[in-house]
Amino acid sequence: MINIGLLGLGTVGLGIVEILDKRKDELKAILGSELRIKKILVKNNSKKRSIDIEREMIATDFEDILEDEDISIIIEVTSDLENSYEYIKKALNAGKHVVTANKAIVSKYFEELSSLAREKNLAFLYEASVGGGIPILKPLREQTAINEITKVQGILNGTCNYILTRMFEEGMEYEDTLKMAKELGYAEVDPTADVEGYDTLRKLRILGTIALRGKISEEDMILDGISSITAFDMEQIKNMNSTVKLIGEVNMEDDKFTAVVQPTIINKDSYFSKVNMAYNSIVLIGDNVGELRFYGAGAGALPTADAVLRDVIDVVNNSYGKINPLGKREVQNNNSMIKDKY
Ligand code: NDP
Ligand code: HSE
Repeated sequence: MINIGLLGLGTVGLGIVEILDKRKDELKAILGSELRIKKILVKNNSKKRSIDIEREMIATDFEDILEDEDISIIIEVTSDLENSYEYIKKALNAGKHVVTANKAIVSKYFEELSSLAREKNLAFLYEASVGGGIPILKPLREQTAINEITKVQGILNGTCNYILTRMFEEGMEYEDTLKMAKELGYAEVDPTADVEGYDTLRKLRILGTIALRGKISEEDMILDGISSITAFDMEQIKNMNSTVKLIGEVNMEDDKFTAVVQPTIINKDSYFSKVNMAYNSIVLIGDNVGELRFYGAGAGALPTADAVLRDVIDVVNNSYGKINPLGKREVQNNNSMIKDKY
C-alpha cells in the first residue's frame, strides 16, 4: 500500500479522488501496490463536500499529515499562495515526496524546492502546473538534453482562452464569460491572476527556465492581460479576419532572451487561432527537432488530476531521478531590444 496525503479537496483534489477510485485496479497492476489517499487537508472542515469522505480522513492541521509515517507522498493541490510553500518544504524535510499543481508556488520557489528534493533524494514534481493535462514539462526536459531550445510560445491560460473564444464566437461580454469560467472551475480563486496575465507569466517562467536551462524570473517579463478587451474590440478584430489570444513567448539568441505575455492579434487561419475554449497549446523550437506542438485541455478537474497522477506514477516507479536537473546557464534579459514595441 502506498499512502498519500492530499492537500486540498477542491476542483483538482476531487478529480484526483475520482481517478484514483475509477483506475484503482489498473494502478495497482502497473505499480504493484495500491495507491490510497490516507488523509486530506482542507481549510474549512464544515464545508459540505460533493463526495462521501470518512470523517477521520479529513484534517485541518497539516502537522497531522506530516507526522503520519505511513504517508510517503504529498499531493499539494490547495489554492493557498503562502502556507503551501511551508507545507511542501516541511514535507520534503520530513522525507516525503511532493507533487503539486500550484503554479504560483512552483514559479516562485521551484529552483529552491527542486534542490532541496535532490539533496534529500526525493521527488518534487509539478507537471500539472503548466498546461493542465498536457504532458509538457517532462517532454521539454527530455528535449533540452540534446536540443538548444530557441523558442517557447504558448496559450497557457484556460480561463483567458475560454473568455476570448466565447467573446469572439458569440459576441459575449467579458464579465459574463469570466463568470462562466469561474463556474466551470477553470479560474483561480482570485481570477485577477488569470485575466491580468500573472498565471500565464508564472507558467512561462517555469517553461522558459527549463527550456533555456538558465533562470528567467517573473520580473524579467513584459506583461499585459486581457481585462480591458471589450465586445466592441473583438468585433473590430473579427472584421480584420483576425482573432486575439493571450500568448506567452520566450525567444533566445546568443544567451540573450526576450520574454513577453500579451494579448496578440493573430490571423484567423493561423495555428493558435484554432486553439479554443479552455484548451492550451505550447510550441517549441529546438535546433535538432525543429518545431514541436503540444495541445490539450489546459484546465479542469480531470485533465489536471491526470497530470498530477502521472507525476505520482513517476515517483512510485522511481523514474523522477532520471529527469534532467535545472540548468545553471547564465542567460541575459534582452527585453530592452523589443521594449519599444509594447
Ligand atoms: P479550489 O479552490 O477548487 O480548491 C482548493 C482547495 O484547497 C480547497 O479544498 C480548500 O479547502 C483547500 N485549501 C485552500 N487553502 C488551504 C490551506 N491554507 N490549507 C489547507 N487547504 C487549503 O482550487 P483548484 O482545485 O481549482 O486548484 C488547486 C491548485 O491547482 C491551485 O494551486 C491551482 O492553481 C492549481 N491548478 C488548478 C487547475 C484547475 O483547472 N482548477 C489547473 C491546474 C492547476 P476548502 O475546500 O476547505 O475550502
Ligand atoms: N486558472 C488556470 C487556467 C488553471 O485557467 O489556466 C490551470 O492552470
